[in-house]
Amino acid sequence: MSDKILVTYASRAGSTAGVAEAIGKTLAENGASVDVLPMNEVKDISPYQAVVAGSAIRGSKWLPEAMQFIQTHRAELAQKRFAEFTVCITLAMSNSDQYRSAVAKWVAPVREQVKPLSEGLFAGMLDFSKLPFNWDTLMLRLTVALGIFPRGDHRDWNAIHAWAKSLKTIL
Ligand SMILES: Cc1cc2nc3c(=O)[nH]c(=O)nc-3n(C[C@H](O)[C@H](O)[C@H](O)COP(=O)(O)O)c2cc1C
Repeated sequence: MSDKILVTYASRAGSTAGVAEAIGKTLAENGASVDVLPMNEVKDISPYQAVVAGSAIRGSKWLPEAMQFIQTHRAELAQKRFAEFTVCITLAMSNSDQYRSAVAKWVAPVREQVKPLSEGLFAGMLDFSKLPFNWDTLMLRLTVALGIFPRGDHRDWNAIHAWAKSLKTIL
C-alpha cells in the first residue's frame, strides 16, 4: 500500500466539497500525496493508507450517500488511519458553542461503524441560489427568516486549515 491519503466527501450545494478541497490542499502542502474525490466516484480505497471522509448535514444527519460509503467500506476503513468531518449551518449560529456536542451526536452513527482518529466539525454555507425550491428548503428559509440559521458562507478557513494540519501527525 502507498502512503497516499484519500479525502472524500458528500456535498449537495458545494460547500462541503470546498472544505474537502481545502483539507486536501493543506495535507498536500505538508508533504502528503492526496486525492480529493466525491464519494460517488470512489470504488476502491485499497490504494490509500489513510482516509478523511466528510459530509454535509441534512435533517441532523450525514447525507445518505456518505453513510452508504462508511457502511460499504467499514471493514477496510477500520484497518486504515481514518478521520471524518462534518459541515452544517448550526455551527454558524452566533451561540453555536452550546450546540457543538449536539452536532457531534449527529455523527455517532459514523463513529459506531468506524472509530475516527480525529473529528472536524465545521460551519457551512446557506446559499438559496444553489438550492432547489422545495418543502425542505422552504422550511430552511423559514428558519432564516426567524433568525435561527444565518444565510451566507460561514466556512472558517483558519479552523479548517488548523484541523487539516493537525492530521499530519495523526494520519
Ligand atoms: C434541506 C436542508 C436541510 C438541512 N438540515 C440541516 C440540519 O438539520 N442542521 C444543520 O445544522 N444544517 C442543516 N442544513 C445546512 C447544511 O448542512 C449546510 O448548508 C451545509 O453547508 C451544506 O453543505 P453542502 O453545500 O456541501 O451541501 C441543511 C441544508 C439543507 C439544504
